[in-house]
Amino acid sequence: MIPAGPTGLRFLGVGSALPPKILTNDDLTASMDTSDEWIRERTGIGQRHIGGTTSGLATEAAAVAMTRAGVDPADIDLVILATTSPDYICPGTAPAVARELGLDCGAFDVSAACSGWVYGLTIAQGYLMQGMGRILVIGSETLDRITDYTDRGTGILFGNGAGAAVVEADPRGPDAGGGALLGWDTGADGNYVHILYSEHDGVLQMDGKEVFRQAVKAIVRSTTRTLEMAGLGIDDVDLVIPHQANVRILEAAWKKLGFSMDDTVEILERTGNTSGATIPMALDQALHDDRIAPGDNVLFLGFGAGMTWASALVRWAES
Ligand code: COA
Repeated sequence: MIPAGPTGLRFLGVGSALPPKILTNDDLTASMDTSDEWIRERTGIGQRHIGGTTSGLATEAAAVAMTRAGVDPADIDLVILATTSPDYICPGTAPAVARELGLDCGAFDVSAACSGWVYGLTIAQGYLMQGMGRILVIGSETLDRITDYTDRGTGILFGNGAGAAVVEADPRGPDAGGGALLGWDTGADGNYVHILYSEHDGVLQMDGKEVFRQAVKAIVRSTTRTLEMAGLGIDDVDLVIPHQANVRILEAAWKKLGFSMDDTVEILERTGNTSGATIPMALDQALHDDRIAPGDNVLFLGFGAGMTWASALVRWAES
């Protein structure tokens, strides 16, 4: 157990990547009985991207993050890649990404579905505490390979994409303007494996209503635990960057927690659910839109198949 309390961590650069091909809600009406209006109203999704490979999208997003961070391949000490749609069952996808980026360091995948990138961030924190310098934390997915776009229960939701962040240790501490992981929580409940899963060579199977219910519970529980560890309340959170699954899931959880959609980053309309990639992609969007100021408290919130969930409250570094 990593001790509770501030641990210096700051984001040096963030990037994302989407394959060029777009599948709109209207496109889906050719293969299933649905409508743009129904999908938008029940999920908030307008389109999703398809194509590409998990390693290719991850490499593209990570290269952007590294350029924005101003780091060279020799500066990266580890690659953590969250994915639920790896290029191969074996080996992991991270080594191929490290090779493409010209890195000479450890590289492994994290399989925690839509919570994977936040799990990865907490793993990165542990390595930084052990003296590691800079770590790439990536989320990348090609969910089109495990999605049946003729099934209206699942095909409306999922798409492809990648997001990546370069993080490094920040020795300053939050009171001196340093970035920090103020609190975090990771959890899992294997009793719910059967509500969202894919077998080898299969496609995603889902009990949508039960996933919805369990997701709301997980969000409320995990947010509460992370804020408790940080010793902070809902009002201390400046921005929430949640997993992008369904806007109605967030609205239901926000009613219980007291967040508003104004405090929330939303990219779901243009990306759909890209599992482990949604949170770093939404972070990239938030930075692009200047929604994060130095000293802000940013809550990352992941939940998904497993069930797994993970949240992390980050104090954004002064510079
Ligand atoms: N288009 C049009 N109609 C649809 C439809 C679609 N894609 N899917 C279902 N319907 C219809 C149903 O047949 C049903 O019709 P009926 O009332 O005449 O029987 C009605 O819409 C309601 O169906 P229901 O299954 O109750 O829909 P829902 O409100 O639960 O929405 C999901 C379905 C999948 C959008 C919703 O359950 C959901 O988003 N769950 C969470 C999934 C998720 O986020 N997974 C990833 C987690 S990381």
